[in-house]
Amino acid sequence: MTTLTVASRSVADTARLATVVATELRPRDVVLLTGDLGAGKTTFTKALCAALGVTDNVTSPTFTLVHEYRGSKLTVCHADLYRLERTGELIDLGLDDARRSGAILVVEWGDLAGDEFTDALVLAFTHVGDTERNVDVSSRGTAWEPRFTRLTAALRAGVDA
Ligand SMILES: Nc1ncnc2c1ncn2[C@@H]1O[C@H](COP(=O)(O)OP(=O)(O)OP(=O)(O)O)[C@@H](O)[C@H]1O
Ligand SMILES: [Mg+2]
Repeated sequence: MTTLTVASRSVADTARLATVVATELRPRDVVLLTGDLGAGKTTFTKALCAALGVTDNVTSPTFTLVHEYRGSKLTVCHADLYRLERTGELIDLGLDDARRSGAILVVEWGDLAGDEFTDALVLAFTHVGDTERNVDVSSRGTAWEPRFTRLTAALRAGVDA
Protein backbone atom coordinates (compact mmCIF):
# COMPACT_ATOMS: atom_id res chain seq x y z
CA MET A 1 0.00 0.00 0.00
CA THR A 2 1.33 3.41 -0.94
CA THR A 3 1.81 6.15 1.60
CA LEU A 4 2.21 9.77 0.67
CA THR A 5 3.85 12.02 3.22
CA VAL A 6 2.55 15.56 3.18
CA ALA A 7 4.66 18.14 5.01
CA SER A 8 2.58 20.73 6.83
CA ARG A 9 4.39 23.85 7.97
CA SER A 10 1.40 25.56 9.55
CA VAL A 11 -2.23 25.21 10.58
CA ALA A 12 -3.08 26.73 7.19
CA ASP A 13 -1.21 23.91 5.42
CA THR A 14 -3.13 21.32 7.43
CA ALA A 15 -6.37 23.10 6.52
CA ARG A 16 -5.40 23.01 2.84
CA LEU A 17 -4.78 19.27 3.11
CA ALA A 18 -8.26 18.86 4.61
CA THR A 19 -9.79 20.86 1.77
CA VAL A 20 -8.23 18.56 -0.82
CA VAL A 21 -9.29 15.43 1.10
CA ALA A 22 -12.85 16.80 1.31
CA THR A 23 -13.15 16.83 -2.47
CA GLU A 24 -12.87 13.01 -2.53
CA LEU A 25 -15.30 12.21 0.27
CA ARG A 26 -18.63 10.50 -0.24
CA PRO A 27 -21.43 9.41 2.10
CA ARG A 28 -20.42 6.62 4.52
CA ASP A 29 -16.68 7.16 4.10
CA VAL A 30 -14.39 6.62 7.06
CA VAL A 31 -11.39 8.85 7.77
CA LEU A 32 -9.10 7.57 10.53
CA LEU A 33 -6.78 10.09 12.17
CA THR A 34 -3.84 8.95 14.26
CA GLY A 35 -1.03 10.76 16.06
CA ASP A 36 -0.04 12.03 19.50
CA LEU A 37 -1.79 14.62 21.61
CA GLY A 38 -1.66 17.96 19.82
CA ALA A 39 -0.54 16.43 16.54
CA GLY A 40 -3.31 18.18 14.60
CA LYS A 41 -6.21 15.73 14.32
CA THR A 42 -8.88 18.15 15.56
CA THR A 43 -7.34 21.02 13.60
CA PHE A 44 -7.63 18.89 10.46
CA THR A 45 -11.23 17.91 11.31
CA LYS A 46 -12.31 21.54 11.76
CA ALA A 47 -11.05 22.41 8.28
CA LEU A 48 -12.55 19.25 6.80
CA CYS A 49 -15.95 20.13 8.29
CA ALA A 50 -15.71 23.67 6.97
CA ALA A 51 -14.94 22.33 3.49
CA LEU A 52 -18.04 20.12 3.72
CA GLY A 53 -20.22 23.09 4.49
CA VAL A 54 -20.47 22.79 8.27
CA THR A 55 -21.08 26.21 9.79
CA ASP A 56 -21.27 25.07 13.46
CA ASN A 57 -18.26 25.50 15.67
CA VAL A 58 -16.43 22.16 15.61
CA THR A 59 -14.98 21.18 18.99
CA SER A 60 -13.10 18.16 20.25
CA PRO A 61 -15.51 15.39 21.35
CA THR A 62 -13.14 14.41 24.17
CA PHE A 63 -15.81 13.66 26.78
CA THR A 64 -18.88 12.78 24.75
CA LEU A 65 -16.71 10.82 22.29
CA VAL A 66 -18.98 11.73 19.35
CA HIS A 67 -20.28 14.94 17.79
CA GLU A 68 -22.39 15.13 14.66
CA TYR A 69 -22.44 18.09 12.29
CA ARG A 70 -24.71 18.59 9.33
CA GLY A 71 -22.86 20.23 6.48
CA SER A 72 -24.34 21.45 3.21
CA LYS A 73 -22.40 18.71 1.37
CA LEU A 74 -22.22 15.86 3.89
CA THR A 75 -23.03 15.06 7.50
CA VAL A 76 -19.92 14.51 9.59
CA CYS A 77 -19.82 12.20 12.58
CA HIS A 78 -16.69 13.21 14.52
CA ALA A 79 -15.47 10.70 17.09
CA ASP A 80 -12.52 10.73 19.46
CA LEU A 81 -11.57 7.30 20.81
CA TYR A 82 -8.90 8.52 23.24
CA ARG A 83 -11.11 7.74 26.24
CA LEU A 84 -12.51 4.53 24.85
CA GLU A 85 -11.90 1.85 27.44
CA ARG A 86 -12.55 -1.27 25.41
CA THR A 87 -12.94 -1.81 21.68
CA GLY A 88 -16.38 -3.29 22.54
CA GLU A 89 -17.54 0.18 23.56
CA LEU A 90 -17.24 1.26 19.93
CA ILE A 91 -20.60 -0.35 19.26
CA ASP A 92 -22.26 1.91 21.82
CA LEU A 93 -21.11 5.05 20.05
CA GLY A 94 -23.68 4.68 17.29
CA LEU A 95 -21.13 5.16 14.53
CA ASP A 96 -22.70 2.41 12.42
CA ASP A 97 -26.12 4.05 12.58
CA ALA A 98 -24.68 7.42 11.65
CA ARG A 99 -22.88 5.83 8.76
CA ARG A 100 -25.95 3.95 7.58
CA SER A 101 -27.79 7.24 7.44
CA GLY A 102 -25.07 8.54 5.11
CA ALA A 103 -22.74 10.41 7.45
CA ILE A 104 -19.00 10.22 7.00
CA LEU A 105 -17.00 9.18 10.06
CA VAL A 106 -13.94 11.12 11.11
CA VAL A 107 -12.27 9.24 13.92
CA GLU A 108 -9.49 10.67 16.08
CA TRP A 109 -7.24 8.04 17.66
CA GLY A 110 -8.56 5.83 14.87
CA ASP A 111 -5.89 3.22 15.59
CA LEU A 112 -7.85 2.33 18.75
CA ALA A 113 -10.64 1.00 16.51
CA GLY A 114 -8.36 -1.85 15.43
CA ASP A 115 -9.64 -3.55 12.29
CA GLU A 116 -13.22 -2.35 12.76
CA PHE A 117 -13.16 -0.34 9.54
CA THR A 118 -12.05 -2.31 6.50
CA ASP A 119 -12.28 0.61 4.07
CA ALA A 120 -10.81 3.88 5.25
CA LEU A 121 -8.60 6.79 4.44
CA VAL A 122 -5.88 6.97 7.08
CA LEU A 123 -3.98 10.10 8.05
CA ALA A 124 -1.13 9.70 10.53
CA PHE A 125 0.09 12.97 12.05
CA THR A 126 3.54 13.32 13.55
CA HIS A 127 5.20 16.28 15.23
CA VAL A 128 8.25 17.62 13.44
CA GLY A 129 8.57 21.01 15.14
CA ASP A 130 6.45 23.69 16.81
CA THR A 131 4.34 24.36 13.75
CA GLU A 132 5.53 21.54 11.52
CA ARG A 133 3.83 18.21 11.12
CA ASN A 134 4.22 15.29 8.74
CA VAL A 135 1.02 13.65 7.62
CA ASP A 136 1.28 10.14 6.19
CA VAL A 137 -1.73 9.58 3.96
CA SER A 138 -2.68 6.00 3.11
CA SER A 139 -5.83 3.99 2.54
CA ARG A 140 -7.34 0.67 3.50
CA GLY A 141 -9.58 -1.55 1.42
CA THR A 142 -10.47 -1.68 -2.24
CA ALA A 143 -13.18 1.01 -2.04
CA TRP A 144 -10.49 3.67 -1.72
CA GLU A 145 -8.04 2.48 -4.36
CA PRO A 146 -9.08 4.56 -7.40
CA ARG A 147 -9.85 7.61 -5.29
CA PHE A 148 -6.61 7.27 -3.38
CA THR A 149 -4.65 7.49 -6.62
CA ARG A 150 -6.56 10.66 -7.54
CA LEU A 151 -6.15 12.11 -4.08
CA THR A 152 -2.40 11.58 -3.96
CA ALA A 153 -2.06 13.10 -7.44
CA ALA A 154 -4.01 16.17 -6.27
CA LEU A 155 -1.91 16.42 -3.10
CA ARG A 156 1.34 16.11 -5.04
CA ALA A 157 0.18 18.84 -7.42
CA GLY A 158 -0.69 20.99 -4.41
CA VAL A 159 2.76 20.49 -2.93
CA ASP A 160 4.39 21.55 -6.18
CA ALA A 161 2.12 24.60 -6.61
N1 LIG B 1 1.07 22.38 11.03
C1 LIG B 1 0.13 22.24 11.98
N2 LIG B 1 -0.95 21.46 11.76
C2 LIG B 1 -1.89 21.29 12.73
N3 LIG B 1 -1.83 21.87 13.95
C3 LIG B 1 -0.78 22.66 14.22
C4 LIG B 1 0.25 22.87 13.26
N4 LIG B 1 1.17 23.71 13.80
C5 LIG B 1 0.74 24.00 15.03
N5 LIG B 1 -0.43 23.39 15.29
C6 LIG B 1 -1.13 23.50 16.59
O1 LIG B 1 -1.08 22.23 17.21
C7 LIG B 1 -2.27 22.02 17.93
C8 LIG B 1 -2.95 20.77 17.40
O2 LIG B 1 -4.01 20.49 18.27
P1 LIG B 1 -5.18 19.51 17.90
O3 LIG B 1 -6.21 19.70 18.95
O4 LIG B 1 -5.54 19.65 16.49
O5 LIG B 1 -4.44 18.11 18.11
P2 LIG B 1 -5.08 16.66 18.24
O6 LIG B 1 -4.23 15.79 17.40
O7 LIG B 1 -6.53 16.72 17.94
O8 LIG B 1 -4.84 16.32 19.76
P3 LIG B 1 -5.69 15.37 20.74
O9 LIG B 1 -5.10 14.01 20.63
O10 LIG B 1 -5.48 15.98 22.08
O11 LIG B 1 -7.13 15.38 20.32
C9 LIG B 1 -3.15 23.25 17.77
O12 LIG B 1 -2.93 24.10 18.87
C10 LIG B 1 -2.61 23.86 16.47
O13 LIG B 1 -2.77 25.26 16.44
MG1 LIG C 1 -8.21 16.17 19.01
